[in-house]
Amino acid sequence: MTAMITDSSPGVRGRTTPREPSPGGEVMRGREPEQKLVGDLLRRAQRGAGGVLLVDGEPGIGKSLLLRDATDEAAEQGFSLAAGAADQLGQAIPFFALRAALRGPFAGLPGDDPGRELPGAAAWWLTQIRTHLQQRAAAGPVLVCLDDLHWASPATLAALRVLRSDLKRHPVAWLLARSSTPHRATDYLFGLLEKDGAARLTLAPLDTDAVAAMLTDAFGTPPGQALADLAAGAAGNASLVAELIGGLRDDHAVQVTGGRAVLTSARLPRRIHRLAQQRLDGLSQRTRHLLVTAAVLGPAFRLEDVAEMLRETPATLLPAVQEAMDAAIMTAAEHAFTFRHQLLRRAVGEMIPRPGRNALHRQYGEILLARGRSAPRAASHLLQAAHPGDPASLAGLDTAAAQTLRSAPQTAADLALRALELTDAADPDALSRAVAAAEALTAAGRLDQAAAIAGDLLAKPLPPVAEDRLRCALASVLCAGGRVREAADQAQLVLARPQLPGDLRDQVLTAHLQALAGLRDDLAGQVADTILAAPDQHDSHAMAAALIARAVLAWDGGRISDGLDLLRDAARHGTGSSADARQVQPLLALAAALVDLRQLGEAGDILRAADNPALESIPAQAALSLLRARIHLAAGRLAEAAADGRVAVASAQALSAHGYAATAHAVLAMIELRRGNLAAAAQHLTSRPAAGPQFADLYARAETILAEAQITEARDGPAAALGHLRQLCADLEDRPGLLAGDPALAPWLARAALAAGEAGLAASAVRAAQALADAHPGFPALAAAAAHSRGLATRDPALLAQAATRHPDPWARASAAEDLGVLHGRLGDRDQVIGHLKDSLGGYRQVGADRDQARVRRRLRQLGIRRRHWATAAARPVTGWDSLTGTEQAVAGLVAEGLNNNQVAARMYISTHTVAHHLRQAFRKLSIASRYELTRIVIEQAADGPAQLALLVADGSGWFRSRAITADYHPKDLLHAVANLSLPAADEGVDYSQRMVALLIDGLRYGADLQRS
Ligand SMILES: Nc1ncnc2c1ncn2[C@@H]1O[C@H](COP(=O)(O)OP(=O)(O)O)[C@@H](O)[C@H]1O
Ligand SMILES: [Mg+2]
Repeated sequence: MTAMITDSSPGVRGRTTPREPSPGGEVMRGREPEQKLVGDLLRRAQRGAGGVLLVDGEPGIGKSLLLRDATDEAAEQGFSLAAGAADQLGQAIPFFALRAALRGPFAGLPGDDPGRELPGAAAWWLTQIRTHLQQRAAAGPVLVCLDDLHWASPATLAALRVLRSDLKRHPVAWLLARSSTPHRATDYLFGLLEKDGAARLTLAPLDTDAVAAMLTDAFGTPPGQALADLAAGAAGNASLVAELIGGLRDDHAVQVTGGRAVLTSARLPRRIHRLAQQRLDGLSQRTRHLLVTAAVLGPAFRLEDVAEMLRETPATLLPAVQEAMDAAIMTAAEHAFTFRHQLLRRAVGEMIPRPGRNALHRQYGEILLARGRSAPRAASHLLQAAHPGDPASLAGLDTAAAQTLRSAPQTAADLALRALELTDAADPDALSRAVAAAEALTAAGRLDQAAAIAGDLLAKPLPPVAEDRLRCALASVLCAGGRVREAADQAQLVLARPQLPGDLRDQVLTAHLQALAGLRDDLAGQVADTILAAPDQHDSHAMAAALIARAVLAWDGGRISDGLDLLRDAARHGTGSSADARQVQPLLALAAALVDLRQLGEAGDILRAADNPALESIPAQAALSLLRARIHLAAGRLAEAAADGRVAVASAQALSAHGYAATAHAVLAMIELRRGNLAAAAQHLTSRPAAGPQFADLYARAETILAEAQITEARDGPAAALGHLRQLCADLEDRPGLLAGDPALAPWLARAALAAGEAGLAASAVRAAQALADAHPGFPALAAAAAHSRGLATRDPALLAQAATRHPDPWARASAAEDLGVLHGRLGDRDQVIGHLKDSLGGYRQVGADRDQARVRRRLRQLGIRRRHWATAAARPVTGWDSLTGTEQAVAGLVAEGLNNNQVAARMYISTHTVAHHLRQAFRKLSIASRYELTRIVIEQAADGPAQLALLVADGSGWFRSRAITADYHPKDLLHAVANLSLPAADEGVDYSQRMVALLIDGLRYGADLQRS
């Protein structure tokens, strides 16, 4: 039987407050449930029934203290006590532990009969002890409490078994304790007693509260964080905590300040070192060697790693591992071994003299590095190994920094910087280390530090190679920092050199392209073409940069599809998100284009794919948040949009990536405008830390212009707003791509121009929008923008009506409805006016556009329409899944299952024509343009309800199968994930389902399916 600590029948209350400090000054903390079990044992004896409680646990966990506490309690209750302990030497003396416990007649050696100390006298002893206990039990309850039974002789153990059984009917309580280190005879006895009904209690480590209470007892006030953390290294082992407390006291390493006990030294107390030494002294030479080596590797270590360090194999190390585990020093986790107590690990590691430890750190760092995967971990070891004036360890840092530069630039920067710090200024390697540090810091997005080093060095004459590398780094820093022109100049200086090493050439070309793309400089096209013409001479990052630069130019020139194709190409070239701040981010660039076109579903998927730890702490992280903000804005979720926008600004500011911060501010300005908060919008524009065009503008093509123009319009009227845009409008015929940045931009231009009496300008905006739409029949956003702006210019209600239903952007839809209402007003059709204005009011309300709602209300009031007529308009959602009619949802479900329109028609007894109609409506309401996006939405939808539908969709859809193969996951794994959807564990529920859906969607996205089917 194993003890059930939860048993709490009424009236069987245990002691819940710790006993007053015993004479030894010990207070037992955190053992209430265990005390209750002891209480149960004593209570039974009080009632006349015997019982056994077996206690075990690792050394130092608190068994003996629990036993002392139990005997104190029993004494208070008037028990007759027999308490003792076995020990290593006592094994030679028959029944040593029992006799020590019984004292009196049994303690001394019976001098009159030396024969009784012979092994053959066992029966005699048993009889004596039994009789003695029976006599005592006749007078009242007895507690026999024996500690450390792992040391007891087999004879004692055998006697215990017999006595327990003989005295079953007597009020004798047995409390027997042993250490859980393996010991066959004791294991056997405990097993037998347990089978016979004994309760068993394995003492668990003390919890954090109990440890904190021990510290508070010791220092008179609660521990500060560092002290609590240090004590956590004892892993709840009471004797280690006690030892730590004693050691800290000895070393005067704790002070009470501000009501907390705080550490005043970072060193481990000497007592802990001594303790570790004692623990190791009991072990074999091989096991000690294993442990000291493993202690250097880290909190957890793989046996393979230690084996490699020791030039052994895991198999040959097994006996040593077993010994360390038996000694309760090491334990096995699922994939690794750990030291049971990190406090001991530290002490064991520190047993090796410093130079030796450094050598081990270096050895392990190199092993990890050679594996190529655990760069940051390798770096932490190499950093510990490095010290000034040791060329070998510094060279190790150089190599590690170079190796990790691309994959883990943050690590590379730490390594390179440390190498530089440890290098004497007069050292011949100082310059190359400074250059490497500047490069690594640039890659890590630590722009200020990089700029400082590069600036210092470039102030002096330098060898050409060093100068080129520094200028190249500087070009990247300047570009992210919002100084695009200067960035381009630096890059050009480097490119003017006749012979550049290949990697540097790619790097500087990448920086140059980004600067030129930011400047919208046509030179970008030539540079990009040279790269694209020789793909085998450039790395994938330079290729991606060239494709993006080309895409920017194509887009500007109104070749939207080409631009999109180039971006998809770039995304295919890249390897997801790059951790290197110097490189372009094709996934983000592609997502931005899709947001422009309001293909928000796919854009969101790409962002999820791009949201990778790689982006942390580099400027692209700000771009990611900025794009999230734009998606929320486009969908009318203004609070979420503002939150993400603020995150974008904050992360850009933290890195001094002013170019990105400027763009993020523009997006925030648009959000505030939408909310009707003009002052806040204007504030965002004035607080932009960098002026002029930016590379990061790529991520929010229209926002910068639109925000500025709309704020001016709101304050000074349309003519003033157009004043800012004159140059831009003059270029529109050549560069109509700007209009594709936002479906509301062309209509806004047309409306403002008409209001300002500039019919020519309105006409040119309309022409440009129409040309874009005509050239790109597959893009609903462009078609709606053209219809909308042309409808305004030609006062054509049919065109405006088209825009009011076809805009994929809900705000733009509401805006078209408003324009339509206004137009009908001019035409004198009051009923039409009211209907459309109410529609637009509902649409604006849906997306939280307060200022726009206010304007429409005013229009309605001017028409004499009372509030109650429009207050309740558009209660039903106009976008999202819930806005779909039942039939539309049914069609969507079947399409997601992989059926074509004919098959859907047959299933639903309707015409193919009608299916197509419903599908178009669904696409419009969901702001999507493909069956792929529809499938995704259907699956997400299903995750909220019974997940069977998701399973059905995933299983039945041939489309899904073919796509999953191209993605990172095998379709089987995905199906498995989806199958689990139908059986979420009770406590995981929807959350779990959603994670599974996320996994599924992961599988659906990036791979070869970038080309939309
Ligand atoms: N619950 C506890 N609260 C406070 N101190 C404890 C607690 N348990 C044990 N200790 C202290 O830890 C040390 C080791 O405990 P001990 O009972 O000797 O362990 P074990 O017998 O399991 O080896 C002793 O100094 C003891 O006073
Ligand atoms: Mg003990």
